[in-house]
Amino acid sequence: MRIIVADHYEELCKLSANIVKKHVQEKKDAVLGLATGSTPVGLYKQLISDYQSGEIDFSKVTTFNLDEYAGLSPSHPQSYNHFMHEYLFQHINMQPGHIHIPQGDNPQLEAECKVYEDLIRRAGGIDIQILGIGANGHIGFNEPGSDFEDRTRIVKLSESTIQANARFFGGDPVLVPRLAISMGIQTILEFSRHIVLLASGEEKADAIQKMAEGPVTTDVPASILQKHHLVTVIADQKAAQKLKIETYS
Ligand code: GLP
Repeated sequence: MRIIVADHYEELCKLSANIVKKHVQEKKDAVLGLATGSTPVGLYKQLISDYQSGEIDFSKVTTFNLDEYAGLSPSHPQSYNHFMHEYLFQHINMQPGHIHIPQGDNPQLEAECKVYEDLIRRAGGIDIQILGIGANGHIGFNEPGSDFEDRTRIVKLSESTIQANARFFGGDPVLVPRLAISMGIQTILEFSRHIVLLASGEEKADAIQKMAEGPVTTDVPASILQKHHLVTVIADQKAAQKLKIETYS
């Protein structure tokens, strides 16, 4: 695991965008795994700006998002589908058919999970998977206790995640769906050739320390990333402040 400590959030965004940009410049039909949450918003902003200045072309790129709330239609303002269009897709030249996000309102949710997993496999896996991290160490919506062998599946959100994500639902936790579809940990580990995890702010400091320096345990789902062959963590100083080993760049 390579850990880069960025001076501030803007640098984190720039560094992560450069990784994506360089890869897409070299491989026009790259497959990107994308994440939601506040953290990657600045990365997407930078990618939009790189697209506008002609440095990156998304016309052949394929994307797979990590997760989606169960029960929300793609057009629901709080759905991750809506989020991705608002913060990225509507501003760049992605082909709509190349965008993949689990369909949260599919009445056949189990089948949706299986189809999603198959789509990633048929795309040949993911070149760069962007991840955020929950304050409780979750990745995607793989909450503490999730099995490391899990594939794309229906998950139950933890109370702390419901509280943390209530800010996107007008601050009312009652409005946050209790279930979601998420790529499983095994899906992420097996299909991603390079994982880029982003973390910003002191509320992520414990999770980052446990992820990078703690034991590999299902109590901290992100700790399994210690076992992946190519992980780049980009954390700003606040998120990195509890790391003990001082050899990070
Ligand atoms: C949600 C998403 C995760 C994301 C996490 C952290 O729960 N499912 O993929 O990493 O939020 O979000 P934020 O970046 O807003 O802290």
